[in-house]
Amino acid sequence: MKKRLVIFASGNGTNTQNVINYFATSQSVEVVCVLSNKKDAKVLERAKASKIKALAFSKAEMLSPEGLVMNLKSLAPDLIILAGFLLKFPEIILREYPNKVLNIHPALLPKYGGKGMYGRHVHNAVVANKETETGITIHYVNEKYDEGAIIFQAQTEVFPKDTADDVATKVHQLEYEWLPKVIEGIFGKQQSTINPSLNE
Ligand code: GAR
Repeated sequence: MKKRLVIFASGNGTNTQNVINYFATSQSVEVVCVLSNKKDAKVLERAKASKIKALAFSKAEMLSPEGLVMNLKSLAPDLIILAGFLLKFPEIILREYPNKVLNIHPALLPKYGGKGMYGRHVHNAVVANKETETGITIHYVNEKYDEGAIIFQAQTEVFPKDTADDVATKVHQLEYEWLPKVIEGIFGKQQSTINPSLNE
């Protein structure tokens, strides 16, 4: 039986596309559905174009036990990935899937995390603060924004001439490289790529 991935995203969805492409020919992992809180999000078009089930949901559905929770049960995910999902993930779903929801964050948490720190806001702050490095964090999701146990981080340099766009590009490259590998690691391969203390 293939491991079943469900992805939540709110916007463009280049990470989602990358994960879909990476596992498209996998014998062990499949993306079974992409869900978005925005019905016109590009990520849903991407999923459909890749022949992956694509669903939009309202905030009310997200918070109701009869809504998204029921939908997810029918999808039977082994892992839920938040790849640019910009709402707080509901506790009602977290309770159903302990240690099965992970988020990718475009900075080195605990720096540049918390409410309002997403996407471009993060890269603007990194440049404004003249950071010399930034990176990505892949972590489990808990009830607090960006505070769940860290699974993996990777760094990239920030140069004085870098704009927020430059930083975004570098961070995306790290995300494309590592998110699929960390997912594989969680499913039992390439254990060395993930935080060893979480493998015990
Ligand atoms: C990614 O960089 C991801 O790390 C970030 O949104 C971007 C989505 O890009 N997530 C957050 O900021 C969550 N706090 P994409 O739509 O091209 O995959």
